[in-house]
Amino acid sequence: MHGLAEKEQTVAADPASQPARPSYRDQAPEVAARFARIYQRPVVLEVKGLDKRFESEAGPVNALQNISFRAHRRELICVIGPSGCGKSTLIRILAGLDSATGGETLLDGHPVRGPGPDRGMVFQGYTLFPWRTVLQNVMFGPEMRGLGYTTARDEAMEWVEIVGLGRFANAYPHQLSGGMKQRVAIARALANKPRILFMDEPFAALDAQTRAQMQSYLLELWKKVDITVVFVTHDLEEAVYLADRIVVLDAHPGRVREIVEVPVPRPRTREQMVSPLFVTTKQHLESLIHGVPDETAVEAASEDAAVKTPIRMTQVGDDVE
Ligand SMILES: Nc1ncnc2c1ncn2[C@@H]1O[C@H](COP(=O)(O)OP(=O)(O)O)[C@@H](O)[C@H]1O
Ligand SMILES: [Mg+2]
Repeated sequence: MHGLAEKEQTVAADPASQPARPSYRDQAPEVAARFARIYQRPVVLEVKGLDKRFESEAGPVNALQNISFRAHRRELICVIGPSGCGKSTLIRILAGLDSATGGETLLDGHPVRGPGPDRGMVFQGYTLFPWRTVLQNVMFGPEMRGLGYTTARDEAMEWVEIVGLGRFANAYPHQLSGGMKQRVAIARALANKPRILFMDEPFAALDAQTRAQMQSYLLELWKKVDITVVFVTHDLEEAVYLADRIVVLDAHPGRVREIVEVPVPRPRTREQMVSPLFVTTKQHLESLIHGVPDETAVEAASEDAAVKTPIRMTQVGDDVE
């Protein structure tokens, strides 16, 4: 953590050349305070030096290399990176659906081995049981946990209400829109009372307007529910809109390029998407992923030369607390 003194120093170093556009590393005091609070919360997920190597006919593929980060309780972490960089592989390993070839994943301090009800998953494709109603889909988890029919139904109905589909409890998946299906998928995941929710491009198949609604809707839900979220996306705007922090992956091998603290204040609104801070953060991500030049990064780099360390940005392996 960098103290106030250092921050003042940054400003004092060159007061005349305040950039017209802010840097993605500029955090208003309330945003910095929010991050300080997040880091004080318990670590729910700890990813430690994960490696994943696939053996293919063309030889070994290093899909993931030395991936490390943490998610604190009720933190919303987005993972972004170019196609094929290992995002799905990573989330499958974190969920226990696949195993790493090195490193480990701790959930509440316990190593993850195999899938479990403490981890919820929502995928891009619709994975509802077509022969079950909305309510029956959401009841599936509670039933598997061994709850009696009535208790399972009542618990499931609460989740169906929370995702705003009370009127559709008895509808079948084919009667629902894409966005509604994904809301059922979220309710079904949450009905298992997981400690953490893993989402792999859950809105990528939706049309732009529905996707925007679902993003706002996810934030509303996340305010109500005590849940930590790791959300994979290749949509940079989606990442900036949703995340507390963004884990940026490189491809081949998939490595952590940077972990960015999103400086955009909460509560988030879609109007913020055109705010200078939002735009500059998105541009920084673009520069990391697509190599698009980022003016503020250049400014930041020259500032760095004069004033030691960048503010409020965590690097791989840093103790972020
Ligand atoms: N079962 C597998 N066997 C061999 N290679 C795989 C397998 N699954 C994924 N890969 C490779 O690992 C890399 C990461 O894939 P993936 O995790 O799907 O990326 P992303 O989700 O970021 O698009 C890709 O190069 C992909 O071809
Ligand atoms: Mg993927």
